Amino acid sequence: MNGLDDLKAKYLGGIAAAKDEVALEELRLAAVGKKGEVALMMRGLGKMTPEERQVAGPAFNALKNEINSALTAKKAGLADAALNERLQSEWIDVSLAGRPRREGTIHPVSQVTEEVIAIFADLGFAVAEGPQIESDHYNFDALNIAPEHPARQEHDTFYMHRDAGDNRPPHVLRTHTSPVQIRYMEKHGVPCRIICPGRVYRADYDQTHTPMFHQYEGLCIDKNVSMANLKWVLEEFCRAFFGIDDIELRFRASHFPFTEPSAEVDIRCSWDNGQLKLGEGDDWMEILGSGMVHPKVLAAAGVDPEEYQGFAFGMGIDRIAMLKYGIPDLRAFFDSDLRWLKHYGFAALDVPTMHGGISR
Ligand code: DAH
Repeated sequence: MNGLDDLKAKYLGGIAAAKDEVALEELRLAAVGKKGEVALMMRGLGKMTPEERQVAGPAFNALKNEINSALTAKKAGLADAALNERLQSEWIDVSLAGRPRREGTIHPVSQVTEEVIAIFADLGFAVAEGPQIESDHYNFDALNIAPEHPARQEHDTFYMHRDAGDNRPPHVLRTHTSPVQIRYMEKHGVPCRIICPGRVYRADYDQTHTPMFHQYEGLCIDKNVSMANLKWVLEEFCRAFFGIDDIELRFRASHFPFTEPSAEVDIRCSWDNGQLKLGEGDDWMEILGSGMVHPKVLAAAGVDPEEYQGFAFGMGIDRIAMLKYGIPDLRAFFDSDLRWLKHYGFAALDVPTMHGGISR
């Protein structure tokens, strides 16, 4: 049986050394193929005595099986190696920086509007909106601003064009969000608790004024609403919005045609080396106008002032955005300068909520 051992050594060695599947196939044909060496040897079985055949037959089969197993194992090994080689050559470093993740940003005005809405939603205020092109009835008359009232000039109003011969009073670009008070009460009645954010327009332009800016109006009407409620709501808002617990507000007697009494509200602050800090120091910064809604305004909106009363206030969104996020020049808000937007913008998924956080 020496021949068998030689064959075994020859082929198992060959298989172990085979470099690829082509070499393996050649070995397979040469060893266990129909005309292979093992097959040729097996033909010799016919010339053996039955006793010899009983020994040689199983030995041939064992050799054949062993070679076949070695071929299968080697084939799997070669396939694994080929796959590994391919994985190596096609490897991609996924840790390399891809494209910048955040191309667009949320404008500070949008972000702060969302912050305001989230805080007031928590206090039970709904959001209402009105048109930006407004009749002079809603922008002035219904708010107790008579035609000769100086406030009409103070507001530096933009008037819309009327055709020659059309003598109706022209529409205006609304100079404040206060007309939404009237529209809302007319449509939905009272009691009500709303804020009305939106764009307003005045012909004015310097570091703190732009011809278009943003305000939001607050309105709360019921049977027993007082100035004390106004104070609490505004303090609660400022604490949440600026994220400062000991915020201090000062109510200064003022005049607005649509409120009686009226107050302007200042926030305590300090200026240190050009750095503004809220809630401390000896300076005061005006942040809003407010008051108890004038009976004439309620009546103009179809609400009985004998039965209902409440407070209103108006706050500049851009202004509180500047204060909170330390943005020095209002004009830059509307320049669409991408560098500014990248610097002051907010990530799109940072939606402000009372539970998730109001400030980023
Ligand atoms: N409408 C005023 C303005 O734009 C702001 C304002 C003051 C609104 C007092 C109010 C208020 O509701 O009560 O200057």
